[in-house]
Amino acid sequence: MLNSKINFLSFPLLLAPMEDVTDAVFRKICKDCGADVVFSEFASADALIRNVKPTLEKLQFDETERPFGIQIFGNEINTMCEAAIIAQSLHPDFIDINWGCPVKKVAAKSAGSGMLQNIPLLLSITKAVVKSVQIPVTVKTRLGYDLQSEMITDFAEKLQDVGIQMITVHGRTKTQMYKGVADWTLIGKLKQNPRIHIPIIGNGDIVSAQQAADYQQLYAVDGIMIGRSAIGNPWIFKQCKDLIINNIQPSYPSNKDRLNICKQHFQLSIATKGDFYGILNMRKHYKHYFSGFENFKDLKIRLLTSNNISQIEDIFQQIEDKYC
Ligand SMILES: Cc1cc2nc3c(=O)[nH]c(=O)nc-3n(C[C@H](O)[C@H](O)[C@H](O)COP(=O)(O)O)c2cc1C
Repeated sequence: MLNSKINFLSFPLLLAPMEDVTDAVFRKICKDCGADVVFSEFASADALIRNVKPTLEKLQFDETERPFGIQIFGNEINTMCEAAIIAQSLHPDFIDINWGCPVKKVAAKSAGSGMLQNIPLLLSITKAVVKSVQIPVTVKTRLGYDLQSEMITDFAEKLQDVGIQMITVHGRTKTQMYKGVADWTLIGKLKQNPRIHIPIIGNGDIVSAQQAADYQQLYAVDGIMIGRSAIGNPWIFKQCKDLIINNIQPSYPSNKDRLNICKQHFQLSIATKGDFYGILNMRKHYKHYFSGFENFKDLKIRLLTSNNISQIEDIFQQIEDKYC
């Protein structure tokens, strides 16, 4: 049976999947701030088929998150197909295959961007995954394995031929990891290929709405994915929307707005994960929410060391008194 067709807004803003960051709580915050499409953190196909509980838990989402994609990674045809079928049974809107992750624990096993050294096998796995499910399958990848083999322009066409319905390209190679700056020129070149008819989403180093608007114009991408700049700054999605879609100047959050969103994030985190894990989970977000607050070090240390909800609420009050 043919896969159903992907159907996003005309210029979607996507929250990048980020392990240990884009959990259901942060995704909800970003959705409320204008992200159109969100993904699960990546899930190992091996873990999925072995029914590993924390992996399955990472894939839970609610209806307000749609369109929602479950991202899987792996290196073997049968395992990836089985994992895709399990992911499909959770009813996401699409399945995304990660052919871009450069971190050692993934790439060294020839999963993620490690597979960019074996394009024939990568394409066989991708084709088999597309055939094994009925929902759309997308790919997130990089420019190529290294600077000598940047090959996204050819590779994207092959992915399209095996039934991939959308490709997100992070403008770095595998060997660059996160170094240097993302190069969007090859993403732009890919968009000029008249044989490509599926959406191409640009990703890498977007830090402001103005930059997103400039890159949309320069590289003609069909959507933009934002990762690190959304952490502590989920408004970036609304700002991009205002500038790119609504044609109005974006507004910037006040200190009070920042604090209020952080408080909302905190409350959701506690409600979803319980006191202990809810408090722990927030520690990676505080420095981003309050970045630029002068002489903030003492309050930050207290936020990072407190294990008690009412103490943290008290610190929020002190932040309000001092900065808002
Ligand atoms: C902490 C962290 C975790 C990430 N986890 C994933 C992941 O699970 N799946 C994935 O495809 N990319 C992952 N990425 C890569 C991002 O999705 C994105 O491609 C990259 O950060 C570049 O975009 P940015 O410059 O907007 O952050 C991760 C990045 C970071 C910083």
